[in-house]
Amino acid sequence: MDVERLQKVIANSGYCSRRKAEDEILKGNVSVNGEIIKEMGYKVNSNDVIIVNGVKLDKSEKVYVLLNKPRGVITSVSDDKERKTVVDLVQIDTRIYPVGRLDYDTTGALLLTNDGELTNLLTHPKNHIPKVYMAKVEGIITGKEIHELEKGVVIDGKRTMPAKVKLRKLDKDKKVSMVELTIFEGRNHQVKKMFLKIGFPVIKLKREKIAFLNVKNLNSGEYRYLNPKEVKQLYSLTK
Ligand code: URA
Repeated sequence: MDVERLQKVIANSGYCSRRKAEDEILKGNVSVNGEIIKEMGYKVNSNDVIIVNGVKLDKSEKVYVLLNKPRGVITSVSDDKERKTVVDLVQIDTRIYPVGRLDYDTTGALLLTNDGELTNLLTHPKNHIPKVYMAKVEGIITGKEIHELEKGVVIDGKRTMPAKVKLRKLDKDKKVSMVELTIFEGRNHQVKKMFLKIGFPVIKLKREKIAFLNVKNLNSGEYRYLNPKEVKQLYSLTK
C-alpha cells in the first residue's frame, strides 16, 4: 500500500464507510501506532498499526466469494438468535462480509469479501450496479403493472429508479406470475416492496445475477472464488 489518507484506509478495510471513519477519527477513537490521531487526512502506510474502537484493522489478502445463498440463512456475520449466517457457509479463515443483503427467505447470488472499497463502490446507489431478480408473485400481472414497475413506484416515500421488467411465465390456473426484475439500486426489501406496491405479493424471490455474475453453475449453498479478471471487471463498473 502506498501512503494513503487514514479515513480512506479505514473505509477500505471494510470496517465502515468513509463518513463513519471520519466520525471515528474526530471522536478520537482511532490510533495509529499507539497514538490517537484526530487529524483528518493523516497519511498512513501499510506498516502502520491502525486501531479503531479497539479493533485492529485487517490487512489480509483480499478475497472475493460468490455464494448461491439458500433459503433460511441470514445475511450477516453473526446473529443474536443463533440462526445460520451466510458467513457460516463459507469455509475460510479470513473474515469476510456480505456485500449488501438478501432476506432470510431470498435465495441466489451474494458476494462476500474483505475488500471494503469494492463493497462501498458496489453498494453505492450512484454506481447503478444491475441486480437481476426472479420473482414468483401472487396474481396475473399485466402490461400496465409491468410498465409501472419499469417507470418506478413510490416506496417508503421515494420513487424507485427506472427498472427493467420481463414477464417470464403466467400460470392462470394457479394465479401466479414469474417476473424478471432488474434494479439498479439496493433499498431495503426493495423487490418485495415494489411488487406489493402494485398489489402482487412476492411468494418466492431469487437473485439470479449481480452485474455479470450469475449462480447458474452453483448449487444452493455452494460458492466459488472470483478470479482477478472478474474483480477488475467489477471495479471497472464503478465510477
Ligand atoms: N429485495 C427484497 O425484497 N428482498 C431481497 O432479499 C432482495 C431484494
